[in-house]
Amino acid sequence: MGIELRGLVGKKVLVTGGAKGQGFSHAKAFAEAGCDVAIIDITTPIADIYDLATPDMMKAAVKAIEDRGQKGVGLPCDIRDEAQVKAAVDKALDAFGGVINVIVNNAGVAALDFIHQMRSSTLHAVIDTNIKGAMFVTKYASDNMIGRREGKIINISSAVTGSGHAMLSHYVASKHAINGLTSAWAMELAEFNINVNAICPATIRPGEGQGSGMVLGLSKEMDMGPEDAYETFSAQGNMAGDKWRCEMQNITDAVLFLASANADMITGTILPVDCGQMAR
Ligand SMILES: NC(=O)c1ccc[n+]([C@@H]2O[C@H](COP(=O)([O-])OP(=O)(O)OC[C@H]3O[C@@H](n4cnc5c(N)ncnc54)[C@H](O)[C@@H]3O)[C@@H](O)[C@H]2O)c1
Repeated sequence: MGIELRGLVGKKVLVTGGAKGQGFSHAKAFAEAGCDVAIIDITTPIADIYDLATPDMMKAAVKAIEDRGQKGVGLPCDIRDEAQVKAAVDKALDAFGGVINVIVNNAGVAALDFIHQMRSSTLHAVIDTNIKGAMFVTKYASDNMIGRREGKIINISSAVTGSGHAMLSHYVASKHAINGLTSAWAMELAEFNINVNAICPATIRPGEGQGSGMVLGLSKEMDMGPEDAYETFSAQGNMAGDKWRCEMQNITDAVLFLASANADMITGTILPVDCGQMAR
């Protein structure tokens, strides 16, 4: 008898940062698993941050969900802005009959700054998107879960929480906050049968266009090619050997597992999908 992911068909899923990169990979996989998917994503640039999603990417992401036979909802929204988040979550709830079963707090940005030269623009962008953004989304999208006493919340953290990283202190701090929010929400929401877990990805192979943009974006600031940056970060951080290279699909597999009924008894976990980084 094979093992399959149970309990995903018919679920209503909200993915932040779902118009490109890992979020887009998760959104497509949820649709393939029989879920309807609402995507929250910024479709305008953030000052001093590498290229993020565009309106065309949002359209393509919604189409990709619909092409898989599921309802797709595109919600342009800057999660740094609480009013925008409330309006977007209200639209998702309207589209899904008042139900959101799964929240994936995936949207995130990074930048490279020494602490003594920290730009205000990037400090605010990283902290406001990665921490407050996830808090605003969960604030508005968890209410229906509490009322229905059911739900799964999956926060995307990072393997950088397992060690020190020069020039990334704003980003590292934001992902430690995500780990803290995960255990705090797991405690707070347990009585409502809501599971809250986080995933810590290793460095993800960069893609062009709608692919994963973080390493691509940072590599430009480092004057390196994206594949070189990926290889350098992976070789320095991951377990030794060519096997230990992380792709978007590895994270998507973990996200769908944590969203499924197979993970019903897992909560408050910080799950490294990190090619062994945290064990080093
Ligand atoms: N790429 C990596 O190596 C890596 C490693 C560990 C963790 N992560 C984390 O994985 C997540 C996804 O990263 P990715 O590599 O797919 O990057 P990406 O840049 O391709 O995707 C990030 C998405 O978030 C959206 N976004 C950014 N700021 C937003 C805002 N203020 N409001 C709404 N949407 C916003 C972007 O438009 C984009 O669609 C992030 O949380 C990142 O920190 C990435």
